[in-house]
Amino acid sequence: MRRSVFTSLLIGSLTLCSLSIAEAQTTKLPASAHTPNGLELSSGTLTIRVDALRPDVLRVRVFPAGHPAEDASWAVLPAARNARVAVTPEVNGFSTPALRVTVSPNLQLKVTDLAGNPLQNDALPVAWSSDGFKVTKAKTDDDHYFGLGDKPGPLDRAGEAFVMWNTDNFGWQESTDPIYKSIPFLIQMRSGRALGVLFDNTFRTFFDFGRERTDRMTFSAPGGPLDYYLLYGPEPKQVLNEYAWLTGPTPLPPLWTLGYQQSRYTYYPQTQVEEIAARLRADKIPADAIYLDIDYQYKNRPFTVDTEAYPDFKGMIRKLTAQHLHTVLITDLHIANLPNQGYAPYDSGSAGNHFVKEKGQNYVGPVWPGPSVFPDFTRQQTRAWWGTLYKEFVQDGVSGFWNDMNEPAVFRYPTKTMPDDVEHRIDEPGFVKRTAMHPEIHNFYGMENSRATWDGLLALKPNERPFVLTRASYAGGQRYAATWTGDNLATWNHLRQTTPQILNLGLSGFAMTGADVGGFGGSPSPDLLTKWIMLAAFQPIDRNHAAKGTRTHEVWVDGPEQEAIRKRYIEERYQLLPYLYTTAEQTSRDGVPIVRPLFVEYPHATSDGHPLDLDADGEFFFGPSILVAASPLPDDVAPYELHLPSGIWYDYWTGAKLDRRGPATARDLEIRDTAPALQPVMLHPGLGDLPVYVRAGAIVPMQPLVQSTDEIPNGPLTLRVFAPAAGESCGGDLYTDDGSSYDFRNGAYLRLHITCSIDASGALTVSIPQREGNFKPWWSTLRIEAVGFVPARSQATVEGRTTALEKTKLGWAATVADTGKAQTVILQ
Ligand code: NOJ
Repeated sequence: MRRSVFTSLLIGSLTLCSLSIAEAQTTKLPASAHTPNGLELSSGTLTIRVDALRPDVLRVRVFPAGHPAEDASWAVLPAARNARVAVTPEVNGFSTPALRVTVSPNLQLKVTDLAGNPLQNDALPVAWSSDGFKVTKAKTDDDHYFGLGDKPGPLDRAGEAFVMWNTDNFGWQESTDPIYKSIPFLIQMRSGRALGVLFDNTFRTFFDFGRERTDRMTFSAPGGPLDYYLLYGPEPKQVLNEYAWLTGPTPLPPLWTLGYQQSRYTYYPQTQVEEIAARLRADKIPADAIYLDIDYQYKNRPFTVDTEAYPDFKGMIRKLTAQHLHTVLITDLHIANLPNQGYAPYDSGSAGNHFVKEKGQNYVGPVWPGPSVFPDFTRQQTRAWWGTLYKEFVQDGVSGFWNDMNEPAVFRYPTKTMPDDVEHRIDEPGFVKRTAMHPEIHNFYGMENSRATWDGLLALKPNERPFVLTRASYAGGQRYAATWTGDNLATWNHLRQTTPQILNLGLSGFAMTGADVGGFGGSPSPDLLTKWIMLAAFQPIDRNHAAKGTRTHEVWVDGPEQEAIRKRYIEERYQLLPYLYTTAEQTSRDGVPIVRPLFVEYPHATSDGHPLDLDADGEFFFGPSILVAASPLPDDVAPYELHLPSGIWYDYWTGAKLDRRGPATARDLEIRDTAPALQPVMLHPGLGDLPVYVRAGAIVPMQPLVQSTDEIPNGPLTLRVFAPAAGESCGGDLYTDDGSSYDFRNGAYLRLHITCSIDASGALTVSIPQREGNFKPWWSTLRIEAVGFVPARSQATVEGRTTALEKTKLGWAATVADTGKAQTVILQ
């Protein structure tokens, strides 16, 4: 429907604009169009304004002449939005030190790099009417699109069309759209060059990546501002940095949230929670958290406890804490509509006039507690009030909170949300105070819910990093909450989909993500559950969760053989925690997600610049150095091909070396016909095997096994060095701190960038620099373990002293005291 309206609009605007873009670009812009930071030009009824926020970030706005939209954003940080750099005016546009921008008199925009490589150009003038607007960009066959949040389907969005409208969609499938989140950010890869686009419009927006016409990419909205940002690479990591600059990075999470988390809808009653905790510990399944779903509440009323089913709720939390298990409670946003019944959240919310309105009255809609009212999170006062509701739970020792149903989900069909005429009273610094209708607010309502929770927790415990898990969100929502992919199903296809979904969420700013392990709806077969637990060990959030009425999902179900495999993978995750935490900390500074597609690490892996991921479904990077090569079709028993970027790789599990210097794909073999042909590597993993590789030249920090992140590891910190080829670079990072507070901001952290090299004699030198930061870590010795290295003398020299090397399963190791000072260890 919407599309046909736009099509007619487009035809209308086309007839108005007689100049083609080629002709237009020869036309000189009037001097008045140039501004110190870009340009502003009007044509007919529209004005375009382009501002360079940085040399590599542009903001583009189009609006009816004389009527710019309110300059405010829920997504973009004010400091970034208000940043400006001077540009160099050019005949029909301007340039920055990174980009050249031209605009035609009919306001068609063209952006190239300074070498003239086209990055993006309007194929048509903006179509604008009272029904909305549409932007149409040229698309080439080489264009691939990533991001757009949690939308199901393949990693590459090319050929697909999507709508942004946060929707509770139980049991969504590969082609279901929309689902829970609206993250209108995408990364275009064209011939190895990355360009990010953030379309900052909170209304129901539409994206088409060549579905309607293969040579067009469009985005459109029925209302709100035409306001978008272009983020230029050319490297994908640079675009990710810029997006973090624009909307804020995923903050450093508490360490315990990187541990294994056990959930179910619902562990009920209290004795069952205690049994689960006891079994985790008895079976020595490393774990850090237990979640309580809605049934812990009295009649599903948020911020209450069913004291009959949980007679000693506080005592239970205390006991869990003593077992080193953090409690996470669900706290949905719908407040039971119970006037005069002593239900405090209703009473205080009502006294503060905090609920959204319909025709002047509180809007009341049915959700879990029955008739419910909904906080107006667009008001700062309401968010502050919401935050206070957490006081008691926090005092009781609850560590994290789960904001579910915040699309907002309402049991009203078919829309599954509140009506369009619901009013929100925006009262927010930087915004005009005004009443907005629900369609403008809907897509970021869940984000503001999680923001209220995050801010509230910070107000209650200012020096503790909050943990909030949200289901719905908008661009920038990563500042306040981790997320998961909602109500998936216990099927092999859903297991497969966790990879593209988590990767695209990461590219959309959300680095702390997971999918319900084992699948939420339905009951997984034993093998499916095992494979899921194995893969999730290499995903940012590892939370096992299941719906009511499904068979139990815990690690121990299905007998000792399955349990042993599952446990082994969770144990591996715990041994990798120093690496995972180091990665999460880097993410919190540079926005490069914890798990990432291959093209982020190797954007030039193929001769024609197409992302290697397109050939390597199921593969991804866990942090900067570890490549997981899960089966693209996990229930298919046939072998599948491994695709590694050109270079030397090691099998993570055995240390075996794979020399893959050569074309990465069969397609590349044809292109580079002079290159030596590499035999394809076929993988055929058994039930307990997940192929994982490490790139040569990586240093992966690891720790002795613990049962929770509270436990102090006993033994040395291992620096596993994967030997580079002679003359190639080698290095790795290590970061640690207390894992929970903000003291790292005042220097209480430890950061090292370790380097290594192999000389002509084959000796491996590992250089540990002076520590940055003043945090005293748990280890006092370092175990340097070299993989892919053949010692000539089986000895290590540390600052002039010599010790013997020890043979390990994967290579050779030397254990040395960590004095905290710079030192050099030579293995030979
Ligand atoms: C829907 C959520 O997606 C699911 O994870 C949760 O268990 C149920 N709501 C019940 O709270």
